[in-house]
Amino acid sequence: MELTRRPRRNRKSAAIRAMVAEHTLSVNDFIFPMFVMEGEKIKQEIKSMPGIFRFSIDELLIELKEVAELGIKCVCLFPNYPEEKKDHLASESTEEGTLYLEAIRQVKAAFPDLLIMTDVAMDPYSSDGHDGIVQDGKILNDETVEILCDMAVAQAEAGADIIGPSDMMDGRIGEIREALDDADFTDVSIMAYTAKYASAFYGPFRDALDSAPKFGDKKTYQMDPANVQEAVMEADLDFDEGADMMMVKPAFAYLDVIKALKSNFDIPITAYNVSGEYAMIKAAAQNGWLDGEKAMMEMLLSMKRAGADVILTYFAKEAAKVLRNQ
Ligand code: PBG
Repeated sequence: MELTRRPRRNRKSAAIRAMVAEHTLSVNDFIFPMFVMEGEKIKQEIKSMPGIFRFSIDELLIELKEVAELGIKCVCLFPNYPEEKKDHLASESTEEGTLYLEAIRQVKAAFPDLLIMTDVAMDPYSSDGHDGIVQDGKILNDETVEILCDMAVAQAEAGADIIGPSDMMDGRIGEIREALDDADFTDVSIMAYTAKYASAFYGPFRDALDSAPKFGDKKTYQMDPANVQEAVMEADLDFDEGADMMMVKPAFAYLDVIKALKSNFDIPITAYNVSGEYAMIKAAAQNGWLDGEKAMMEMLLSMKRAGADVILTYFAKEAAKVLRNQ
C-alpha cells in the first residue's frame, strides 16, 4: 500500500511511545484516602478492599512514613466510629479530643509537609447513616449546613489543609467558606465534592466506616447517574461559592463528567477513584481474570486523559511504587 500516514510509526518502540505520550501519571497527582479508628495497635484489613486498612492513630503514623517516603503529597482521612458514639446530630464531629480531630492534629504534628484533606459530612458520626440531619424521613438541608460549618472550622483548627465537603447539601460551599474566613482560616482550601452521584460503587467504603444508611438511600442529595448537565450547574454554583478545587465521584464510570467540568472551569478537577472501582480490579486480579497492576495504571490514566488534575485513589501507594520503578 502507498500510505502517506502510517500512525504505527509513532508506536514502533517503547522510546517513541514514551516521547509522544499525551498524558502521564505522576505521584504528585495522587491523594491517598485512609481510614482511622479508635484504639491502639490496630491495623484491620477491610474485607471488600484488600490491601486497605483501618488504623488506630499510632499505626496510622507508622503507615504514613511509608506514604510520605513514596512521595505522596496528600492524604484524605476518614473516621470509623463505633455505633455507640453516633447520634442524630453527629455530635462527635465537632468535639475536641475525639478520634478524628485528634488524628488530624497528630498527623499534622508528625508530618507538617504532608497535606491533610478532611471529610465534611455527617455520615461517619450519624446514627441514621445519612450525610445530613434526618427529620420525618427527610434530610434537612439548611440545618445540616450549620453543622457542616462547625465541622469544617473544627477540622481547620486541628490542622486540615483542605476541607472536603462530601455531603451534597445545597449552598454548603459558600457557607463553609464564610465560616472558615470568619475564623481566620482564609488559607484553608475547599475541595468541593461537586458532582457526587448516588452510586452503587461506594459499597466497600460503607463497609469500611460501617456507615450504610439505616433507611432509604441518598438519592435526594446525591446526583442521578443519568445527568451530566446538572453536574455543570452544580459546578457553576460551587465555583461561584468559592471552591478551590472540584471533584467528580465516582470517576471511572463518569469520565464524561470529568471532561465536562475540565472544559468549563479553570480550577483543578479531581477524580475520586472510589472504593467499588478499587474492589472490582482487586477481585478480578485475585481471580486471575486480569492483570491487576496494568488494569490499575490504565484506569488511573483514563482519568488524566478525561481531564483530571488530581486523583483520589486507594491505589495511590501501589501506583506510586509502579511509577518509581519505571
Ligand atoms: C460519604 C462518603 C462516601 C464516600 C466518601 N464520602 C460514601 C457515601 O456517600 O455513602 C465514598 C467513597 C468511596 O466509595 O470510596 N460522605
